[in-house]
Amino acid sequence: EKATRKYTVRPGLFRVFRYLERLADVWSVQSSAMKNIVVLISGRGSNLEAVLSVAEAERWRETLQAAVVAVISNRRDAAGLTIARRFGIATTIIEHTAFASREAFDAALAAEIDRHDPAVVLLAGFMRVLTKDFVHHYAGRLVNIHPSLLPLFPGLRTHRQALAAGVRVHGATVHFVSDAVDAGGIIAQAVVSVRPSDDEAALAARVLEQEHRLLPHALRLLLEQRVAYVDGHVVVRDCGAPDLALQSA
Ligand code: GRF
Repeated sequence: EKATRKYTVRPGLFRVFRYLERLADVWSVQSSAMKNIVVLISGRGSNLEAVLSVAEAERWRETLQAAVVAVISNRRDAAGLTIARRFGIATTIIEHTAFASREAFDAALAAEIDRHDPAVVLLAGFMRVLTKDFVHHYAGRLVNIHPSLLPLFPGLRTHRQALAAGVRVHGATVHFVSDAVDAGGIIAQAVVSVRPSDDEAALAARVLEQEHRLLPHALRLLLEQRVAYVDGHVVVRDCGAPDLALQSA
């Protein structure tokens, strides 16, 4: 009688284990295979558009198992929201003006971002300084594009700063975000010449054209795990200097 009972219980347990194993498999495939990108914007959204166009043209879903899954704006009137919708991306507006403190805004922002379990959180013209807690929460996953060759010209009006300094080359930087504004490990940069005839607008346009090449390129390096941020240092694997320093034609 004992033997029979043993025999009848075991297949049942076995089935339960098999089921749990399968669940674990499915869960790990779903949670680790797809790399979700969440993009934060405040305005025009031309860098967002560059990323979405390249991701579509290069079929990132299939080739990199990566996709922009959400665009969040802190401004209701950001033109980039229309671009996101055109690409069928979910959009959310979280207006910073509705919050009493920077901490409260960042907490709400993080709660919305975390719904998407992001591999990368991309600041593409997101004009808010983020709190330390926010930055730490996304350490190694938080990336920004800045329109200068950092560490030169952090902050605003970078093209004006470059013209005032009389530099002969200028450009853009994609970097991991750290506690300090417009600092943090540099992933890749793009360089343009400054021409004697340049005014702020002409220089900005030349840099922007390169930003649109640079940002999808840097994201690709990140998604392919050829660059990573480890203990505040950028680690580069399998990509040479030309990949990290783009030059305009
Ligand atoms: C870009 O110049 C970017 O480098 C800076 O803000 C600007 C955003 O432009 N951080 P857009 O919204 O992507 O057109």
